[in-house]
Amino acid sequence: AAGSAVGLGNLWRFPYLAAKYGGGSFLLIYVILAVTFGFALMITEIALGRKTGKSALYAFSTLHEKCGFIGILASIVPIIILPYYCVIGGWVIKFAWAFLTGSGNAAAADDYFSNFIARTGEPVMWLVFFILATSVVILLGVNKGIENISKVLMPLLVVLSVIIAVFVVTRPGAGAGIVYYLKPDLSKISANAFLAALGQLFYSMSLAMGIMITYGSYMKKNEDIESSVRNIEIFDTGIAFLAGLMIVPAVFVFSGGDQASLKAGPTLMFITLPKVFDSMAGGHLIGTVFFVLVLFAALTSSISLMETVVSIFVDKTKKSRKFITVCVTVYTVLMAIPSSLGFGIWSGFSIHGMSILDFFDFHSHIYGEEKISAQYASIMSKFLQMLEDGVYRQHRDVTYYASELCVTPKYLSEVTKKVSGYAANYWINRYTILDISRLLRDKSLSFVYISDLFGFSSPSYFSRYVQHNLGIKSSDYRE
Ligand code: PFF
Repeated sequence: AAGSAVGLGNLWRFPYLAAKYGGGSFLLIYVILAVTFGFALMITEIALGRKTGKSALYAFSTLHEKCGFIGILASIVPIIILPYYCVIGGWVIKFAWAFLTGSGNAAAADDYFSNFIARTGEPVMWLVFFILATSVVILLGVNKGIENISKVLMPLLVVLSVIIAVFVVTRPGAGAGIVYYLKPDLSKISANAFLAALGQLFYSMSLAMGIMITYGSYMKKNEDIESSVRNIEIFDTGIAFLAGLMIVPAVFVFSGGDQASLKAGPTLMFITLPKVFDSMAGGHLIGTVFFVLVLFAALTSSISLMETVVSIFVDKTKKSRKFITVCVTVYTVLMAIPSSLGFGIWSGFSIHGMSILDFFDFHSHIYGEEKISAQYASIMSKFLQMLEDGVYRQHRDVTYYASELCVTPKYLSEVTKKVSGYAANYWINRYTILDISRLLRDKSLSFVYISDLFGFSSPSYFSRYVQHNLGIKSSDYRE
């Protein structure tokens, strides 16, 4: 169970949610939920499994004939998670491979990951590899062997993570990141952060998916459920915490911790960690070993996910295990491909403003994630169009844009902030400053001309504006 509990949820999902939902406050909410709600729920599930000796599908109906539907609901969860879990698994293989073949440097570049997922064939190839690896293990029935290997590898992953985390937190610039990650900022506690933490708790501890019920059904009557649950929780949360400590402060070290980087979402780990390895002595070897270990953690989880799905259908249809495994494999490949293409040729396609993968990663959505509604997107694009048209040369007041778009200034800023991470003011200034610095470089234009073009009341006022916003004396451009 610990093997199935520790996986991409801890290493990939937790850090990006923590970065996104306010760092320390997210961590605090998560830990509180884990020791209260998570603890109670896991004990309940394991106890239910042990008492009935059945898997989720039948455990609830054994309890009471009318409760069977809960088992069906719980069974649907792994069926949905499995395909896109394999997409992320594919990304992990890609990075393990890149480091193994000495392209670690290239992987640290800003656009390496975005270029990779924007392609069509390559991400699909890796995810198919990952799925095949998972189903081959199940078909050959060597799950136990893999689990034993992973028992040796997991402690290694912990040790390596500690080393990487120590390296990251001692980098210059990491201080702000450590504070962000560890110090709860009460103003950042929101319903969304709370719900994201709850979703993460279920995901990471494999709760409400029937997994723990099945695990309980194998448990001996004299084993102490409470202490097992305590151990699973400590281990699982510990690894997630470490993963966050490797990644969140690194965002501050390498990109100054700006909002856009913190909110990178599912791609965060793959953008940040290669930069860490690239700046580390012996980083390529460490990066290779690290991604291979993550791959193992991901595989043990995907194996237990696929096992669960296979068992559900074997129980229901009474067909042979082999046959069902092949069917599930085909289903997984077919369903994983859209999630993968959602970052590439299908990136224009969204469901309620989410990418396809994000949509299937529904633990974050059922439990509330800000969605970018069509209305928001339309306001944002009209606003940007006005800026593209150069309106900022005459109007730099949010009020003007808001009234043109028939909304209040406050609402406009809220929308741009939600969609882009920055308030309307930021964008107006940004366009203005870029344009001014471009014009100043053109020696044929006089300073007064540019000042007039932007409607400044006097050249001296313009000069102060330039000095303040571009940090240079305008005369420097004129010499
Ligand atoms: N708990 C796993 C993780 O944190 O990655 C995900 C998972 C694995 C869920 C296996 C369900 C499962 F059966």
